[in-house]
Order: sequence, then C-alpha cells, then structure tokens
Amino acid sequence: MLVAIVGPMFAGKTTELIRLVERQVIAGRRAIVFKPTIDDRYDPDAVAAHNGAKYKAVRVAPDESGVGAIKELSASYQVVAVDEVQFFPPSLAEVLNELADEKLVVAAGLNLDYRGQPFETTMRIMAYADKVVSLTAVCTVCGRPATRTQRLAPGPRIYVGGAGLYEARCRRHHSVPG
Ligand code: ADP
Ligand code: TMP
Ligand code: MG
Repeated sequence: MLVAIVGPMFAGKTTELIRLVERQVIAGRRAIVFKPTIDDRYDPDAVAAHNGAKYKAVRVAPDESGVGAIKELSASYQVVAVDEVQFFPPSLAEVLNELADEKLVVAAGLNLDYRGQPFETTMRIMAYADKVVSLTAVCTVCGRPATRTQRLAPGPRIYVGGAGLYEARCRRHHSVPG
C-alpha cells in the first residue's frame, strides 16, 4: 500500500507522516523513516514539523545512491516512510511502488515549487499511490485554504528554508518573486 501525502509548505504533511508511522508502531510494526541530507532544518536526525513534532529518521543523499539506500535499508521493515520526496530523483517513485507490494509506504512531499511548477518525483509517486492525502495550509494573506507556496525572495529551485523565506498562499495570492 502506497500513501502519498502532498500539498504546499505548512499544510501538515510531516505531521501527518509522523501520525501514520506512530500508529503503525503502536500496532507493533517495525518502521523506518527517511529524509534527504539537504533538509537540515530543526534536527538532522529526525523528520521535524513546523509545530515542533519530531520522529527519528535516517538521512540519505537525495540522489541515485540515496534511492538505492532506501531500497536496501527498508528490507527488514514493515513500514517505510520518506519525507521531502521532492528532493529525490524521480526513480524514487518506482522504488517506493515496488516496496509498496509488501509494505506500507508513506511518502510526503511538496506538490509545486515556488513558481507553481509540479515536482516530478511527487507527481510520479501520486500516480502510483493507492491513496493520495492532499492537504492545504492557511493562506497568510486571506486565511482561505492554501494550495501553493510563496517564496519571499528569488533564488534557486531547491532552497531549504522555513517561515522566514516561505509562506502558504491560496491561488489568488500566490505570485512568482522577481
Ligand atoms: P509541512 O510538512 O506540510 O510543511 P508541518 O507538518 O511541518 O507541515 O507543519 C504544520 C504546522 O505548521 C501546522 O500544524 C501549524 O502549526 C504550522 N503553520 C505555520 N504556518 C501555517 C499556515 N500558514 N497554515 C497552516 N499551518 C501553519
Ligand atoms: P515542508 O514542505 O516540510 O515545509 O518543506 C519544504 C522544503 O522545500 C523547505 O526546506 C523549502 C523547500 N522548497 C524548495 O527547495 N523549493 C521550493 O520551490 C519550495 C516551495 C520549497
Ligand atoms: Mg514537512
């Protein structure tokens, strides 16, 4: 079973991933959580939500070697979770799809980059998913449901950051900076 948790920043993707994994652990299943090495926010050895929730995680490189490591290290677990899937190459989708034949796989990631362009790896995982949990945040301008992420300054597509650099926005209040 493959569950994809998608949405903009601050939508509660990491919180939901932690919730699903904790329930499995309570049920007695062995779980492993992965995050990419580039995500150094809050805690290097845990997936961490913007509200302070944390769960211990194994850091792997966001490249083909990291995708290989996820495949290898998952072997003896019944539950596999990966946060920030948008930072991994698209081949992660096929690996998670295969693992999902025998395990519960939970994958959380951004729907769109700050320009409003889909993240390929998230898209592929959504296509393979048995269930897509699409979450919204709260638009910082109008308070309506936010489906997009506003970058407050221009920069490269991949740019790790939190509340100082990004805001959740609805379609109407989202724009591309610069
Ligand atoms: P994600 O992984 O999707 O970025 P997290 O699970 O890390 O989300 O964080 C969700 C938390 O972020 C919420 O529970 C709330 O406390 C906080 N938060 C901060 N700004 C917002 C916002 N604009 N909309 C919704 N939640 C927000
Ligand atoms: P989050 O979804 O858990 O809040 O984390 C998203 C991460 O992705 C955060 O470190 C910022 C980063 N990011 C980019 O690198 N490029 C982008 O276009 C966006 C929107 C976010
Ligand atoms: Mg998160």
